[in-house]
Amino acid sequence: MTDREHAERVLVERGLSPELEAHCRGVAAQAESLARRWGAAPDDAAVAGLLHDLCRERTRQEVLELARKHSLKVDPIEKEYAVQLLHARVAAEEAAAEGFSPQIAEAIRRHTLGGSGMSVLDECLFVADATEPGRTWQGVEAVRRQALKSLDAAALTLVRRDVERLRSRGREPHPTMMALLEEKRGTQV
Ligand SMILES: [Fe+2]
Ligand SMILES: [Fe+2]
Repeated sequence: MTDREHAERVLVERGLSPELEAHCRGVAAQAESLARRWGAAPDDAAVAGLLHDLCRERTRQEVLELARKHSLKVDPIEKEYAVQLLHARVAAEEAAAEGFSPQIAEAIRRHTLGGSGMSVLDECLFVADATEPGRTWQGVEAVRRQALKSLDAAALTLVRRDVERLRSRGREPHPTMMALLEEKRGTQV
């Protein structure tokens, strides 16, 4: 069985809603195409896309329980927004437990908050999550185009957008997200 077949099997077994499953397939396609453009492994990108939101529909209790099961250290912001933030880290652990590679697990782990020192694969998934074909937010088309010219620039646009959205709601962004913003800002002219 290939990694892709394995990921397909896991995705179906977990019984996601049709909407979320369609999102995962869209992210897989978009991540794969970005990986071809930017030199990451296309199969790994597709697999990470298929599996990245495996735990997105779990309840807060379930996500926290999975974090405990995988012995994850959970910080206060992650605890408060467990479903929104921690679903990435627990899905990464679940993927690793299924035998997928550390690179795939890492891309899944970083898909919500990013962080500094992301690999090309990590960035492909991060950007694909927000720009897959099913996404229709205002400006998405421009970021899709930007991602073909510079993956870093697209990641910077997206993280800026996330930070602004959080601050407009009176929330302070997670330090891991800020680390990505600072790093990418430093590389742009
Ligand atoms: Fe997610
Ligand atoms: Fe997602």
